[in-house]
Amino acid sequence: MSVQGTTAELAERADVTTVNTSVNTAPEPSLVLEGLGKSFGSGPPVLQDVNVSIAQGEFVALLGASGCGKSTLLSIIAGLTPPTEGALEVPADGAAFMFQDASLFPWLSARRNVELALKLRGMGKVERQLAAAELLELVHLGAAGDKRPHELSGGMRQRVALARALAQERSVLLMDEPFAALDAITRDLLHDEVERVWQRTQRTIVFVTHNVREAVRLGQRVLLLSSKPGTVVAEWSVSDELRKDPTQVAELSAEITARLRQEISKHA
Ligand SMILES: Nc1ncnc2c1ncn2[C@@H]1O[C@H](COP(=O)(O)OP(=O)(O)OP(=O)(O)O)[C@@H](O)[C@H]1O
Ligand SMILES: [Mg+2]
Repeated sequence: MSVQGTTAELAERADVTTVNTSVNTAPEPSLVLEGLGKSFGSGPPVLQDVNVSIAQGEFVALLGASGCGKSTLLSIIAGLTPPTEGALEVPADGAAFMFQDASLFPWLSARRNVELALKLRGMGKVERQLAAAELLELVHLGAAGDKRPHELSGGMRQRVALARALAQERSVLLMDEPFAALDAITRDLLHDEVERVWQRTQRTIVFVTHNVREAVRLGQRVLLLSSKPGTVVAEWSVSDELRKDPTQVAELSAEITARLRQEISKHA
């Protein structure tokens, strides 16, 4: 195959290939963690020998007991915490982060919270007003843009936080127990939202949760981290068909819960 074009054109084409994966080619890995380890000070390792490869556009759910190192792992991927061992590859545009607590600016409306993320990207005023409106529509908050965080429900605040994370336009989205504080029904609605947003935006998502059913409902792959040290001890592939069938979701959740209990009992 002959390839022609200026260096800039070729670089642009190369970029496009890494972002859009076609049906015939295996998806490019988006995140690669190799022999990753982390210790704080002279303490025992929190994470050890974590080896994970995540494809562009893949949705991975990360499960593990409290304190096993899930947030530390996300923080390393986000570039906020340096690993003490191993290597990682992340896309050049880095990762956006969404936390359990929406951490919105309380004095700014939903729209302004989203616009701020766009402003930080250097987007001009008119353009960011349009983009913020689109993002709020995407998370079904088109009518609530003028409300401030205290006027929104917990679920709505998390939707604004999702819109704000998407505003950063990073190819990887890290979500750290984003729905842990929500009631079960709101959580189910947000699962549908996240799935729709993921399909629409083709982000690579790493979603941390304590909730096994949530992991199976959302993840194409579920990874289980052990504790002390945290390393990937089991993984399950979840087909699109299984994720949509509540009976199969319940069966697989029971299997994963049993495995998670085993891990937790090692340290009980
Ligand atoms: N900055 C830090 N300094 C020292 N120890 C830390 C630091 N951050 C995390 N740790 C320790 O690392 C371990 C893993 O913490 P981490 O927050 O990653 O766990 P987690 O799996 O996210 O837990 P949870 O499910 O409760 O959120 C804990 O023992 C914690 O005390
Ligand atoms: Mg955590």
